[in-house]
Amino acid sequence: MTTAIRRIGVVGGGQMGAGIAEVCARAGLDTVVCEADAVAARAARERIAVSLERAVQRGKLDRISAEDALARMVFTGSLDDLADRQLVVEAVVENTAAKTEVFAALDKIVEDPGAILATNTSSIPVMRLGMATGRADRVLGLHFFNPVPVLPLVEVVSSLHTDPETVSVIEDFATHTLGKTVVRSQDRAGFVVNALLVPYLLSAIRMAESGFATATDVDAGMELGCAHPMGPLKLADLIGLDTVASIAESLYEEFKEPLYAPPPLLQRMVEAGLLGRKSGRGFHTYD
Ligand code: CAA
Repeated sequence: MTTAIRRIGVVGGGQMGAGIAEVCARAGLDTVVCEADAVAARAARERIAVSLERAVQRGKLDRISAEDALARMVFTGSLDDLADRQLVVEAVVENTAAKTEVFAALDKIVEDPGAILATNTSSIPVMRLGMATGRADRVLGLHFFNPVPVLPLVEVVSSLHTDPETVSVIEDFATHTLGKTVVRSQDRAGFVVNALLVPYLLSAIRMAESGFATATDVDAGMELGCAHPMGPLKLADLIGLDTVASIAESLYEEFKEPLYAPPPLLQRMVEAGLLGRKSGRGFHTYD
């Protein structure tokens, strides 16, 4: 691709998809957000409007720019509306079958054969998603961190089939258009950050599970003793306990190391619908 990327599609308008769409629109890009249906698309728009308002209240963005960013976004319930995109970032649920289905569909819908299809997966091999398309050379991982408008990192992950030119275009886009800092990773479950972060979160869950320390004390220990902005159980609640469990399962499937195995308490909480912030209760409770 020789022309600059201006037309972006984001599939999934949950906390990650909405954050990715927000930073793209704030960077002046024409952004289409695709959700499962019109109701979910409206919820994604509302999520982004709330985040933009927070940025205005915190003095990070002026009101006109926030309004312009929202006006630059189109919300849809149909993948067909992504046909003319130059880059599509998939950010649906952390599940191989769901992501594979999206990539197979995008491959048929996105018309420009040079368009790049990226995944925001945290832990699923990029190769599996590339192989669901006829353009694995144009498929790569572009992994953002939550909250996306606040955290400056993206991981760029190439599979064995990703064309180096695709990597170079995306690194340039992430750095110069979105203003993020790139770290590169090979296509191994968890990439750099989650391969380190998730065993730590699981250890904290095991600590609370065994009664070794309370959730509040585990978090206070890391916030006050190590200057982390939030303790591991608050962070697990922010990420979403279903997502933490899915990443742990992918890591365990890949490496077969006990430190990656999701603890029973995590599994039970997910089954109970106690997913963290998004459900109002996880290791802590939220309004
Ligand atoms: N746009 C721009 N800036 C925003 C914003 C927005 N929508 N919302 C908040 N901010 C800014 C604020 O202005 C503030 O900036 P300053 O410090 O310069 O004033 C900063 O972000 C913090 O915001 P708040 O004061 O509202 O909130 P806080 O101080 O309570 O911090 C937090 C909240 C940013 C979440 C912080 O606790 C934090 O960084 N926690 C750790 C998060 C983390 O580790 N995320 C990684 C998760 S792992 C992941 O995402 C990958 C995966 O695959 C699972």
